[in-house]
Amino acid sequence: FEVNWDAEAAEKGGYEHFMIKEIYEQPKAVRETMTGRLAKDDSGVTFDELKWSKYDVAAIRKIAIVACGTAYHAGIVGKYLIENLARIPVEVDVASEFRYRSPLIDDQTLTIVISQSGETLDTLAALKEAKNLGSRTLAVTNVVGSSIAREADQVIYTWAGPEIAVASTKAYTTQLIVMALLSIYMGALKGALSPEKIHQLCQELKNLPGQVHELLEDVEPIKTFAQQYGFNEDVFFIGRSLDYAVALEGSLKLKEISYIHAEAYAAGELKHGTLALIIEGVPVIALATQKDVYEKILSNIKEVKARDAVVIGVGLKGDTELAKYVDHTIYIPATGKFLAPILSVIPLQLLAYYAAVTRGCDVDKPRNLAKSVTVE
Ligand code: AGP
Repeated sequence: FEVNWDAEAAEKGGYEHFMIKEIYEQPKAVRETMTGRLAKDDSGVTFDELKWSKYDVAAIRKIAIVACGTAYHAGIVGKYLIENLARIPVEVDVASEFRYRSPLIDDQTLTIVISQSGETLDTLAALKEAKNLGSRTLAVTNVVGSSIAREADQVIYTWAGPEIAVASTKAYTTQLIVMALLSIYMGALKGALSPEKIHQLCQELKNLPGQVHELLEDVEPIKTFAQQYGFNEDVFFIGRSLDYAVALEGSLKLKEISYIHAEAYAAGELKHGTLALIIEGVPVIALATQKDVYEKILSNIKEVKARDAVVIGVGLKGDTELAKYVDHTIYIPATGKFLAPILSVIPLQLLAYYAAVTRGCDVDKPRNLAKSVTVE
């Protein structure tokens, strides 16, 4: 009698790949990121690791967010949330650019670096550069005791659990949770948010783990889209405001693991060049979760439909309009505009995953890429 025990298969816990396992771990991961930080009565957010006073927050004149890849996309969402909820100006940079552009950083700046691994060389170097310039520094990372965690003045851990697949999924959604929590935390200390608004945002956050779970219950339609369009050469992602940030992440995920050429555009930019590439049968994933730009994205959808693109619309459950303008729809559970990215990215992660599986790609270890980039 012989037992064949494959350690890697055991680690995958019955899933075919680490990536899909990690996608399914998101309800738990996002819950754990909030645990101990979100008040039980929805009255606010605390960070025991920060313990900032209103004076600490008032002293921040500018925030610089620096990161790479998916973490950079979380930074773009972070800028939007911090500026809207805490009313502090934020600039976001790719770490490899920040280092070489002589950034205007000083002791009134808070530099936030975001890194799943905490070991990305460019992000670490940017953090050191910000410190040299006198900035206060805060790391948002998933790995306890990582180089970036050790170098920064303060650390917020994302508590996503180990992420093995090269393509980042649960690390990204938990980074978005931290950005939302931090924005509420700073907004409250700055007096920029009413108690009612804080209460509403906290309730929306609390609903997220259940909503992520709900999204993951029925993935069949997404699998079908991936099989149907998985052999196309080009795919476009369009969105406005926060949906644009999600489009960037959806496009990176698809490129990274399925090797399909994918581009993300701020939908309003289409007419400034990209529309020339929209021809019959090109798949366009259009994100339409942001109410304040809803009419605008519908008119962009009409523009691409007029060129015979095949449009997959991602909208909020209860939206009865979207289906009239697109070929296929994916609905996410309804939530407020600030948290919608945490839900709308999940169908895009799944789309990338199933497209890569359809094409027979090495999902967990895409060619030419490493999980953590410790070289320049
Ligand atoms: C994401 O799917 C990528 N593998 C990549 O962009 C990654 O997010 C980037 O290299 C940054 O890594 P870090 O978060 O560990 O710093």
